[in-house]
This record gives sequence, C-alpha cells and structure tokens, in this order.
Amino acid sequence: TIEEQLYRPNFHFTPKANWMNDPNGMFYLNGKYHLYFQYYPEDNVWGPMHWGHAISEDLIKWKEQPIALYPDSLGYIFSGSAVVDKNNTSGFGDDGKTPVVAIFTYHDIDGERAGAIDFQSQAIAYSLDEGQTWTKYEGNPVIPNPGIKDFRDPKVYWDEIRGHWLMVLATYEKSFFYSSPNLKDWELLSDFGETVGEHGGVWECPDIFPMNVEGTNETKWVLIQSLNPGHINGGSGTQYFVGDFDGKNFVLDPSFAKDLDQVETKWLDFGRDNYAGVTWSNIPKSDGRTLFIGWMSNWDYARDVPTTTWRSAMTIARELSLKKVNGSYMLFSEPVSELDAYKNLVREETNINFNKEFTIIANKTKAIDKTIIEIELSNLQKDRYRFSLENDEGEVVDFGIDNIKNYYFIDRTASGDLSFSEKFADKISIAPFDDLQDTIQLQILIDKTSIEVFYNQGQTVLTEIFFPSSPLKTLKLTPANNLKAVIKKLVVSELEL
Ligand code: FRU
Repeated sequence: TIEEQLYRPNFHFTPKANWMNDPNGMFYLNGKYHLYFQYYPEDNVWGPMHWGHAISEDLIKWKEQPIALYPDSLGYIFSGSAVVDKNNTSGFGDDGKTPVVAIFTYHDIDGERAGAIDFQSQAIAYSLDEGQTWTKYEGNPVIPNPGIKDFRDPKVYWDEIRGHWLMVLATYEKSFFYSSPNLKDWELLSDFGETVGEHGGVWECPDIFPMNVEGTNETKWVLIQSLNPGHINGGSGTQYFVGDFDGKNFVLDPSFAKDLDQVETKWLDFGRDNYAGVTWSNIPKSDGRTLFIGWMSNWDYARDVPTTTWRSAMTIARELSLKKVNGSYMLFSEPVSELDAYKNLVREETNINFNKEFTIIANKTKAIDKTIIEIELSNLQKDRYRFSLENDEGEVVDFGIDNIKNYYFIDRTASGDLSFSEKFADKISIAPFDDLQDTIQLQILIDKTSIEVFYNQGQTVLTEIFFPSSPLKTLKLTPANNLKAVIKKLVVSELEL
C-alpha cells in the first residue's frame, strides 16, 4: 500500500500491525538483544496493554516475536523492565536454567480496582527459555499500591556494590527507590525529585544506572525521568539527572544542582519524538556500553498520526555516555556503532567554501530515506543555516543552525500531512546553544518518516517524525544571509539493509 511505501520506516523498529508505545523489558542474552514494548494487538490506538516482543542480533534489524505478556485478572501489563537473574536469587531457575525476570506494572482499570485510585501495582513474571515464554508469579503483586494513583514503570538494576536489586519507579511527581534480595520482597529506600526538575506533567518510565565519566576514574549515577506533558518543545519528553547513589538515596551532584538552579533542565532529547526510553540490562562487562532506545512519538499526537495499520516506531538504538563539558555533566547519545556495517559511501567532500545554497543530495527518482549525513561546518557566522529536505510537492523538513538566536532546530511546519493534530507542528523545535557556534558537527539519520540530528557527538539530540505525501528527494544547505562558511567535511552514506 501507499502507506507502507511512504511511511513504514526502513531502519527503525515498527510492529507489523497495530498499536505500540514504550519500549519495555530490554535485556541482552547469548548474542540476542531483546526488546519488548507496550502493545495493543487488536487496534491501531492504545488499549488493554500487552508486551509485544522483538529480537535483534545487532540492535538494527529486528524480528518480531509472539506476544510475551497478556493482560489478566490483575490488570493490563504496563511498562517495566527485565533482568537476567544469573545467581537465581529469585529461585525461579529450574535445572540450572537461568531465569529472566520481568518486572512490570499491573493497571487494573477494568477489574476489581476500577474507579479506585490504587489500581496500579508492581508484579513479576519469569522466563526459563530466554524470554520467549513467561510465567507470572503466583505471589503477585510484589509491591501493592500504597494509595498513590500514578505508581508505575519499575526499572530494575543489579546493584553490585550493595549486592541486591535496585528498583526505581515513577509516582506522580517523584521517583521511588526500592531494594530487594530476590525480586519478590521489596523495601522502600527513598524518593527523589519532588522539588527539582520539570513538573509540567506526570513522571513516568524512570531508569537509574552508574556510568563512568569519560576520560576520568569517576563514577556518577544517572537518573532518566520521562514526563508527560512538560517537554521543552511540547508534550511528552525525557529529562535526566546526574548524581550519586549511596545505597539508599539518590543525591544530585552539586554542580548538576547548580546547573538546574540556573533553570537548565537537561533533556535527553530536545526533539518531540523520543519518549519513555530506558536502557538494556545485562550488557556484558566486556562490552561495557550503556544502550538505550526510546519510543519515537509523543502523547500529544501519537494516536492520530496518519498510519493506520500500525502506529509508532522506536528511535535508533543509541549508546549513552557521560562527559563533563565546561564543568557540566552531559549525557551524550549516539547511534550504536552496529549501524556502520550497513553504510555505503555515497559522497565525501572536504573543505568546501559556501555562501549560498549548496546541494548535498539531489535525486530525481531515489528517495532520501535510509540516509546518514555526517557534516562538520566551520567558520560559521552570525547567520541562519538551513538544511532543507524536500520532495516534488514542495513539502519540506527543515533543520539547521541558528547562530543569530543560538539554537539548532527542526522545522516540520511544512513537512506534509499536518492535518491530524493541531499540536503536531504548531511551532519549530529548538535545542539552545550557550553562544554562537564557530564549528559544529552533526550526524543526521533520515528514514522515511523520521529524522534524528545528533549535535557534536551527541551532546544534545533532536528526534522528530513527519509524514510527507511523496518521498523526500533533495537536501540543500542555505545560509540565510549569504555569509561565508566552510564545510570542513561531508560524508553521505546510504544504508543497505
Ligand atoms: C508512558 C506510559 C507509562 C505506562 C504506559 C502505558 O508512555 O504512560 O507510564 O506504563 O505508557 O501504556
């Protein structure tokens, strides 16, 4: 169908049919990356939640699997995580088989607790066949509701230092931390966040993990915290915090607290389409990466986007790293390096002076829809540099650098179908800079209906979706005021999948 040809992404995960939202339960085991997801198999809009499932050997190519978890009398299966219980702390391991344990939220909206506020609780299920089939624990829920309406999205991490499981979950305006020796008995440790961070909406889908600060011996803990609404550019989005975890409390690093005081929320992605993302568990030490994926949509319009047989894609899988930039901790994201294996070089240039429209790609027949642009610009002036990705209809996805207003941006206000939601393209999305940028490096991933712009090795990111009425075929770079600048380096690659 036209919809398949035009909208179904080439290198981003989508379910074959029907509704998907948050990524869930991601773990790695025996050469396979598992991705579960909030899934409603009977319609293209949100409904009674299941966990769908997909497997990849390289985080790029995914194979959808049978549904992993179905709702039952305790409720819908909301978001959560999964861990590989190598030491069989749970006792679920049978004949030496390693249990994988999923920790999720039951949302009992239709059942016994309908109408009450205590309808969300935390529960577990285990798998003895590497995540293929699951048995729900008969002692569920493992954390009953304490009288809090929004009480969900448990993410569990093996705290090696303390020798127990650490859980973070989201309540309305805070994250709660729990510990457990066995994934069944949980003790509340502390909470975080009531008085810091963004509170324009409900906190959801947290994650916590330690990271090495690149180039140092320092370890810091990163807390990822999604919220809906309240994102800087509108709707749902994900903020992060950097601090220390002493086994009981998450304490913001003083420098990070200072950054926040100066009203600088740190956003994991400044684009509108990266939500509820969390990290993979059980990545081998020998690999050592922190791997992340997010839902590439926004609650402002996710239910309305003009795909009908399926809805939503995931972002490209990303490697997170923690760096100190001018005294501030920054969480960097970059596409996983596994993507490189699929790249074919299309164009490579160095040191091109330009002061007017420069054509990066001009295709007559071919679409720009599995394309990666790596570009380094220097001698940038106080000008506005616009990349325009256009089709034969004159629809355009704009992105670029505004050195007059000090931000980079994505502008999808003329990108094709906008009719499905007033909130979809009411304004451009921006990621601010501290000051004028003389040199900038961008990595840009373009699929049929999405763009991901990684600024300076992923210090900040803009991820957005769009729905053109015909394929996008040309990409040009134009300085608004014709001031002279240099393309230090340009590499265009096409993915072969
Ligand atoms: C976030 C979220 C979660 C919840 C799930 C329900 O997008 O609202 O908080 O568990 O989606 O599908």
